[in-house]
Amino acid sequence: MTRWLLTGGAGYIGAHVALDLLASGREVTILDDLTTGLRSRIPDGADFVEASVLDTDAVRRALDGVTGVIHLAAKKAVGESVEQPLLYYRENVGGMVSLLQAMADAATPCMVYSSSAAVYGEPPWSPISEDSPLTPLSPYGETKVIGEWMVRDEAVARADSTPLSWVTLRYFNVAGAGSPELGDTSANNLIPMVFDALDRGEAPQVFGSDYPTHDGSCVRDYIHVSDLAAAHVAAAALCESGGVAAVFNVGTGVGSSVLEVMGAVSDVVGRDVGAVAVDRRAGDPPELVASVDRISAELGWSAQRDLRDMVASASAARG
Ligand code: UD1
Repeated sequence: MTRWLLTGGAGYIGAHVALDLLASGREVTILDDLTTGLRSRIPDGADFVEASVLDTDAVRRALDGVTGVIHLAAKKAVGESVEQPLLYYRENVGGMVSLLQAMADAATPCMVYSSSAAVYGEPPWSPISEDSPLTPLSPYGETKVIGEWMVRDEAVARADSTPLSWVTLRYFNVAGAGSPELGDTSANNLIPMVFDALDRGEAPQVFGSDYPTHDGSCVRDYIHVSDLAAAHVAAAALCESGGVAAVFNVGTGVGSSVLEVMGAVSDVVGRDVGAVAVDRRAGDPPELVASVDRISAELGWSAQRDLRDMVASASAARG
């Protein structure tokens, strides 16, 4: 039996990953500073350390007996990162320095890193493969690119002494909930924002209707958080086999437009949500869809749930 440390394990995604790791027969320690994570999300059976990844000593202590780290703890709001870049560099890049130092000290052999489709910026083609250029458009995306480089560089440096086997997962647009109590409470993303608008009795907004897409609204690759959690367990298992250095997109490979998401919400709530078109939001690429060939071939993982599952489970999680 192996033990994995989950940084950010009390967050929306982390809580789903923790449950799946436990179900896979692995032991789990969650390290979370609870700034956005919730104590209530920490599952029975997981050990818990309340600390920031910036606290290298605390991380080092938590790594005792640990085979690998799944590193999810990070700031993740694109707009906030533009306004406060140093906050993002301190938390995301500084957090990675601290974590990798503690892992080197403890000779921890495995790492799964939570990256983002934000590393691609505005991609020149779609679907986008892992070898495409990395041209992030925000400090958030930049910190994710730097984090990827740091993991890769550290594995090279440790190769002859304490080898580090690693997988980077580039998440596309994560949505839905594995159970009603595990929903996304941050409301920064399209589906929670649509439900928030409906709760206020307002019309949900479509940011831009003149994009060069099939219906004029932006296209994204929405991935169910339960599918994403399963990808982490597969990545952890691959890392445990040793000698791994891999980057995978995690998406469905299927694009959905904002209008199609509105349609799915209308189906789930049983009435037309009456979405209104407003101006474009600055910095939104027209289309961002994952090529999933590599993760399917090399990790044997593919998404099992569709947009309707995401919208229905997100709705159920709102109570
Ligand atoms: C999201 C994440 C980003 C992540 C990226 C990966 C946020 C804020 N953004 O970006 O961290 O790296 O996925 O692909 O967490 N929209 C509307 N109306 C709304 C809200 C959104 O039309 O009320 C549109 C947006 O213009 C966009 C789409 O819905 O086209 C999705 O938006 P959002 O959920 O914010 O995600 P991304 O911006 O794609």
